Amino acid sequence: MEVISGSRVALITGVTGQDGAYLVESLLAKGYVVHGIKRRASSFNTDRIDHLYQDPHVSNRNFILHYGDLTDSTNLIRIVQQVQPDEIYNLGAQSHVAVSFESPEYTANSDALGTLRLLEAIRILGLEKKTRIYQASTSEMFGKVQETPQRETTPFYPRSPYGVAKVYAYWITVNYREAYGLYACNGILFNHESPLRGETFVTRKITRALARIHLGLQDCLYLGNLDALRDWGHARDYVEAMWLMLQQDVAEDFVIATGVQHSVREFVTRAAAELGLAIDWRGDGGDEVGVVASVRGNGAMRVGQRIVAVDPRYRRPSEVETLLGDPTKAREKLGWMPKTGFADLVAEMMREDLKGAQRDALVREAGYKAFDHHE
Ligand code: NAP
Ligand code: GDD
Repeated sequence: MEVISGSRVALITGVTGQDGAYLVESLLAKGYVVHGIKRRASSFNTDRIDHLYQDPHVSNRNFILHYGDLTDSTNLIRIVQQVQPDEIYNLGAQSHVAVSFESPEYTANSDALGTLRLLEAIRILGLEKKTRIYQASTSEMFGKVQETPQRETTPFYPRSPYGVAKVYAYWITVNYREAYGLYACNGILFNHESPLRGETFVTRKITRALARIHLGLQDCLYLGNLDALRDWGHARDYVEAMWLMLQQDVAEDFVIATGVQHSVREFVTRAAAELGLAIDWRGDGGDEVGVVASVRGNGAMRVGQRIVAVDPRYRRPSEVETLLGDPTKAREKLGWMPKTGFADLVAEMMREDLKGAQRDALVREAGYKAFDHHE
């Protein structure tokens, strides 16, 4: 393995995910040599980082991928031993809350025990003094919130197997810091989105669907709880906070959030406005629908068309109704502030998904099959 010498070395689990992609870009720009762990899959799974890929035959590479999995201790120990990282960012996880109700044991294995395995790898290899570790903790740990806004001292009350697994990962990170003096910290990140967001998280599901409905590729967007409230920021801003957390004199845990909250319904309304549409919300509960009230510009949508409806399959057995973070500690100690507000985030996601839908429409017009992925 021929790589640049003298640079700081980072190892990222979950490098193929949304945050992994933004973090690699950011660390490479800072001069790091970046190693990432990707999972073996039966088809290519590196779309988000393909633009950064470097041919293994080229010397002086600064971005190297390794096959691995958070459920495989020996593999993790071997990679950490080989890479000798200055910083580990543990972003790998089964990160979908609804899926965690379907696969609770796997979620616990990867999200809870995966963190333990990495911490143990550092300890077993005697890297306690060299390697700093960031744990991707989450506002989902606050679950049934015990106070609003949520801050570093707010008690946890997780509401899903995912949230429970992440609470274990949070505390084992704190424990290894206290027991073995590791520089280990938790970023308690509130929801953060981007054009790279997974397609089944609600924001991306909304922007993709509206773009496709706008171009006549889809009829209706089916959602679950429209009243859920989230504090949505941009992933690009949030990965900077991760890095800052590992550059301090003392390891601490930080809430990362915007301090502003919107409902799922508001997200839909804002995204539709980007396409020149006003939505009239009619009915309530499971019967609520979003109907086109007015249209500006071109597109397939007509006034009176029902474009949003509720489908109970997207509701969760136990829901996190509201999340709102207080990022004061991050602002004061890290000098971190979010740069992208809600309107700009939605606009960017809508713009990018419109491009994707336009490409699919062209493919269809030319007589080729455009795939239509659904949950
Ligand atoms: P994401 O897009 O779902 O990416 C998750 C990554 O983890 C992917 O690279 C995935 O690989 C990988 N992964 C899944 N299971 C794994 C396993 N067993 N071993 C190794 N890698 C595995 O998630 P994200 O939005 O980037 O979030 C990054 C981290 O922050 C996650 O830990 C998430 O729980 C946490 N978090 C996210 C948010 C948010 O709003 N985005 C907020 C708070 C905390 P594949 O690509 O092969 O699936
Ligand atoms: N996914 C999804 N799909 N969510 C829906 C839908 C739908 O059709 N309809 C309504 N929702 C509601 C969910 O019930 C939830 O209240 C809210 O929209 C946000 O759902 P997600 O986008 O799936 O995100 P999340 O808040 O459950 O979890 C995300 O944020 C956490 C941080 O708070 C994930 O990224 C987690 O990994 C992360 O830890």
